[in-house]
Amino acid sequence: MSFFNDLKMLWHIVLHRTRGKTHQERLDSFYSGQASGYDDFRRRMLHSREEMIQSIDPPAGGVWIDLGAGTGENAEHLGDKLGTLSKMYLIDLSTSLLEQAKQRVEHRGWTNVEPVCHDATTFVPPEGQVDVVTFSYSLTMIPDWFRAVDQAYKLLKPGGTLGIVDFYVARKYPADAHVKHGWTTRSFWPLWFGSDNVFLNSDHVPYVENKFETIRLEERRGKIPYMPFVRVPHYVFIGRKPATDEA
Ligand SMILES: C[S@@+](CC[C@H](N)C(=O)[O-])C[C@H]1O[C@@H](n2cnc3c(N)ncnc32)[C@H](O)[C@@H]1O
Repeated sequence: MSFFNDLKMLWHIVLHRTRGKTHQERLDSFYSGQASGYDDFRRRMLHSREEMIQSIDPPAGGVWIDLGAGTGENAEHLGDKLGTLSKMYLIDLSTSLLEQAKQRVEHRGWTNVEPVCHDATTFVPPEGQVDVVTFSYSLTMIPDWFRAVDQAYKLLKPGGTLGIVDFYVARKYPADAHVKHGWTTRSFWPLWFGSDNVFLNSDHVPYVENKFETIRLEERRGKIPYMPFVRVPHYVFIGRKPATDEA
């Protein structure tokens, strides 16, 4: 962690104007200047990623797809489980972050991890259906997030596991047993993140709960570097594709 790196990150997050005609161009405009310092800064901002990844137990020889994988840090969080997989795909549209993922794979000598530049809403691996699909802080950056969730559903084998961790805001009237957020939280955070094309949404949780069997849902708040008095809400969702496919 260095103060200079933090300044660079803050400049990109707060002041840099994102340009580009396509979603991919906008992602690269946002990330190209921050790719090398991304992991260090995001470790203090993107909470519960490690826990979400480690709470999933893939079958031996299984296939895992991380959609919107960025620099591929989630592969590190798998620890010894990574070696038991036949394949892990790291899918991302940002060429600059994916370059970091490629360097990581090469450096670590992982032969079963493949970074692929592809849209998360349409990626299909040669294996067809897989055992695990995860999104960590990527659904909020995918404009057609509902298509990405539908694609994850199609990609999973019956009984397969979906893991998500992301920022969100609650609905004004959330379902029973869900966390409520006041007006300030529901208004401020979507506005603040929206300037970086990160779209916090009150429908993510209800949508995935409706499509998958919920194994676990945690609704929490976490710190943001250099914003000492506020905590941004995030959720961890672990779900299972029903054994009988009705969706
Ligand atoms: C906040 S970053 C999170 C990266 C990583 N999962 C992590 O936890 O550090 C969001 C990622 O989603 C990727 N992304 C956004 N839209 C995408 C899309 N349509 N297809 C694939 N990746 C996408 C971005 O390029 C970026 O790497």
